[in-house]
Amino acid sequence: MTATIRTRVAIVGAGPAGLLLSHLLAASGIESIVIDQRSRDEIEHTIRAGILEQGTVEVLTQSGASTRVLTDGNRHEGIELRFAGAGHRIDFADLVDRAVWLYPQHEVLKDLIAARLAAGQDLRFGVTAERIEDAASDRPRVIATDAEGQAFEIEADFVVGSDGSRSVVRPAVTGSSTGGYFREYPFAWFGILTEAPPSADELIYSNSPEGFALISQRSATVQRMYFQCDPDVDPTSYIEDQLWDELQKRVPGTTLRQGPIFQRDVLRFRSFVAHELRKGRVALVGDAAHTVPPTGAKGMNLAIADVIVLERALRALLHDGDERLLDTYAETALARIWKAQHFSWWMTSMLHVAPDASDFDRLRQVGELRSVVESEAGRRYLAEAYTGWTMPEA
Ligand code: DHB
Repeated sequence: MTATIRTRVAIVGAGPAGLLLSHLLAASGIESIVIDQRSRDEIEHTIRAGILEQGTVEVLTQSGASTRVLTDGNRHEGIELRFAGAGHRIDFADLVDRAVWLYPQHEVLKDLIAARLAAGQDLRFGVTAERIEDAASDRPRVIATDAEGQAFEIEADFVVGSDGSRSVVRPAVTGSSTGGYFREYPFAWFGILTEAPPSADELIYSNSPEGFALISQRSATVQRMYFQCDPDVDPTSYIEDQLWDELQKRVPGTTLRQGPIFQRDVLRFRSFVAHELRKGRVALVGDAAHTVPPTGAKGMNLAIADVIVLERALRALLHDGDERLLDTYAETALARIWKAQHFSWWMTSMLHVAPDASDFDRLRQVGELRSVVESEAGRRYLAEAYTGWTMPEA
């Protein structure tokens, strides 16, 4: 006989969205179970993006989920856009009186996991969700296999899919594993981590005839950099000198400080929004609901915003039996999701060089970049979007 565990909210996926949701629900006295297919070690050591919007930092610190972001993270009050041989600073503090924090996603995950385990959260690693059943009923179930290969099920008042872009929960909501609005891009990012001092104090987003590069940082001794590459490139096919050449030629005017490259990965680009974010007692958040290309670092920040909207709706449902906020969850979340989709697409298309770009396309792009940096309204829009629109009310 299959064992059944009962809980109020079954959360599939222990990424930033799933863990923060369990944290916020617990603060409202709502019990949950979080499962993830990956091991704790894999979750805590997979390298992802590093930029947190101001609102994300406020949520993490005010909810007690992470205070380390303030001590170990770095506040950035601007970025540089570089093109046509010159750099242009977008001054967030001056334009919108806001900032972002450079604090890697896997550090956020370490903080969240530690906080949840310290609070006694039922958090299970190495557990695979197979499918969701009875999504339309009051008792949806997650059919799962535990770390020892034993089948079991979780019966809940509500199921949340925070299980990333290959979501197992999504078909229960949209009717298929793909069902959504979709766009692909003809390029990817080659990312490296290097043991070297910073080459710049702030991030440099550089558009060059050779393609895009992003010079980011991690700490005084570790740096993160990316350059535009072919999506099918094999990350092991470059020797270190070639990687430095590729990066250096895309940021003329800055001499990159080189060191050993100890991590390399290729990030593919997609834009995706699921056709539905909720069906009955099942909802999607984060990458399960949408994916953005990485330019502008919206992915995790958007996941956090989804969680705030959904948590408020779950509180009303589970404390008061009030379904109204749940009924508007998708519409409320989608307003921000499509703004972030637009911003991520815009930053991507403005800064990268498409493989088939004509001279007209290249010159038009430089015209677009000039329109942004030479206009206070243009710079302010970028600053507003980058530092993050006001978070939904909790
Ligand atoms: C980083 C990643 C991004 O996608 C971005 O826009 C800025 C920074 C990073 O990993 O540091």
